[in-house]
Amino acid sequence: MDNNQELLLQQLAALLKGEHDPLANAANISSFLYHSLDAVNWLGFYFQQGDELVLGPFHGQPACTRLPIGQGVCGTAFANDKTLTVADVSQFSGHIYCDTASQSEVVVPFKQETLKGVLDVDSPQLNRFNAEDAAFFERVVDIYLNQ
Ligand code: SME
Repeated sequence: MDNNQELLLQQLAALLKGEHDPLANAANISSFLYHSLDAVNWLGFYFQQGDELVLGPFHGQPACTRLPIGQGVCGTAFANDKTLTVADVSQFSGHIYCDTASQSEVVVPFKQETLKGVLDVDSPQLNRFNAEDAAFFERVVDIYLNQ
C-alpha cells in the first residue's frame, strides 16, 4: 500500500464515519474513489439477489443491471468468494461488456450476513491493477463492512 492509498483509506473512513446505511455508504465510496483514482472509468457496487448480482450505487457510464452469479468477472469473483484481477478483459472467457471502454478490471466480493455483493472497478487501460491495488480495494471493502 503506498502513501496515497493509505491517505485515501483514512479519508474514506472519515467520510463514512457515523453513517451505517449500506446504500448511502456505497454511494459515497463510489463517488469518492471514482474522483480520486486515475484511469478508472467505472467503479461501483452490485448486490446479491437470489442467483443474480443487481446494480447498486456507482460512478461511470450506465451499466448492466443484472449479472448472473458464476459468470463474467463479477459473478465469478462472487461465486469463488475471492478477489479477481483481470489484466485484459478481452482474454477473460465470459467477460460481460457493460462499457466497451473497459480493458482491465478488479472485483472484490463480500459476504456478510444480509450484505452480499461485489465492489467492481474498471479501467480503460490494460493491466491497470496490480496486487497492491487489489489489496487496497479489499481494505475499502473492509471499511465498508465495518461501518
Ligand atoms: N465486466 C463485468 C460486468 C460489470 S461492468 O464492468 C460494470 C463482468 O464481467 O462481470
